[in-house]
Amino acid sequence: MKAAVMRATNAPLEIEDVTIDDPGPGEVLLATAASGICHSDLHVMNGDLPMPPPCILGHEPSGIVEEIGEGVTDFKPGDHVIGCITNWCGVCKFCTGGRPYLCPSQFDGRPDGSKSRICGADGNPILQFANLSSFAEKMLCPERSLVKIRDDMPLDRASLIGCGVTTGLGAALNTVHIPAGASVVVIGCGGVGLSVLQGARIVGAGQIIAVDTQAWKFDLAKDLGATDCVNAKEGDPVAAVQELTGGGADFVFECIGLVPTVQQAVAMTGRGGTAVLVGVVPITEMVPLSAADIVLQEKKVVGSYMGSNRFRFDMPKYIDFYLDGRLRLDEMISSRIKLDEVNDAFDLMRKGEAARQVIIFD
Ligand SMILES: NC(=O)c1ccc[n+]([C@@H]2O[C@H](COP(=O)([O-])OP(=O)(O)OC[C@H]3O[C@@H](n4cnc5c(N)ncnc54)[C@H](O)[C@@H]3O)[C@@H](O)[C@H]2O)c1
Ligand SMILES: [Zn+2]
Ligand SMILES: [Zn+2]
Repeated sequence: MKAAVMRATNAPLEIEDVTIDDPGPGEVLLATAASGICHSDLHVMNGDLPMPPPCILGHEPSGIVEEIGEGVTDFKPGDHVIGCITNWCGVCKFCTGGRPYLCPSQFDGRPDGSKSRICGADGNPILQFANLSSFAEKMLCPERSLVKIRDDMPLDRASLIGCGVTTGLGAALNTVHIPAGASVVVIGCGGVGLSVLQGARIVGAGQIIAVDTQAWKFDLAKDLGATDCVNAKEGDPVAAVQELTGGGADFVFECIGLVPTVQQAVAMTGRGGTAVLVGVVPITEMVPLSAADIVLQEKKVVGSYMGSNRFRFDMPKYIDFYLDGRLRLDEMISSRIKLDEVNDAFDLMRKGEAARQVIIFD
């Protein structure tokens, strides 16, 4: 099968023919239908999130089940599914405590010493990113990385729910609980930020302020629910938000992953408010924050991982939201591309010139 392989960091992906194993116990083989492109893939390509090459990225997929391995009971050939990186073991304290997205087993892959799920044309193993690797025509996944979805859900739009939408909606619906009428700021209007923004709209937030450096994103943000927009390239975005909110917002979501924008998020948070960190800051970087500001104004600073999801519960609900018109996904897709255009897509993402780009497989 054809796949886009990361052979080195800071280099374009290479389109190669690779082999994929048959499904083992508990595994499901999928024909990939679509894969959204998330900034976390770019973080890995840049070395900001270390992952040893050779590796196949892509973690926002939809697909159709082709074959199931021994003991698989939740899926059958022909099922439409979404894949998610937060597969769960079901027995650890996080899984049994109701927070399966924190399960430490989620990047484990097959047991040590097993045959690799994916190999290059030379027969050498290729690392599977987060048990998914959706920049490939087929995927071999543990069944606990997958959720079955309604057949009437278009698979291109379903793929977005695999990461960006679940991360953004879940940050607003699960990680924190936004009361109706609250003021919300979203810094960064990519696939993740636009999903936070929609989550805020769905729960009935009052003011929803979108912050970005790309003016063209503001029409889209307004269409999806923003009440105000702040161009961070024109003046101080913190001062602009302070003025719009009369002293700071109830909730501020950082959806980029830069040191200055994390600092801005905390500064934009009003007294007693909550800054939610969603963007992934490169792991080598630290963010200096004023502890006095956090203590004296009783601000909360919380991390949000994969929308604090229980994805077999959340994703079918998000699909119902789409099909009943509450969640808008059509507008979030800025282009549909072929697998061999993936490097161009990352160029556009680097320049901030895309909303969500989706690879469509035949
Ligand atoms: N917490 C999680 O579980 C999780 C899950 C998925 C993605 N992420 C992270 O979320 C972040 C966003 O992902 P994405 O796919 O939406 O990215 P994206 O590249 O599509 O969007 C980023 C947006 O930020 C804007 N931007 C860049 N610099 C800015 C600045 N200084 N001020 C204001 N806006 C600015 C860009 O114009 C763009 O609209 C990434 O760091 C990604 O790794 C986190
Ligand atoms: Zn992602
Ligand atoms: Zn677990």
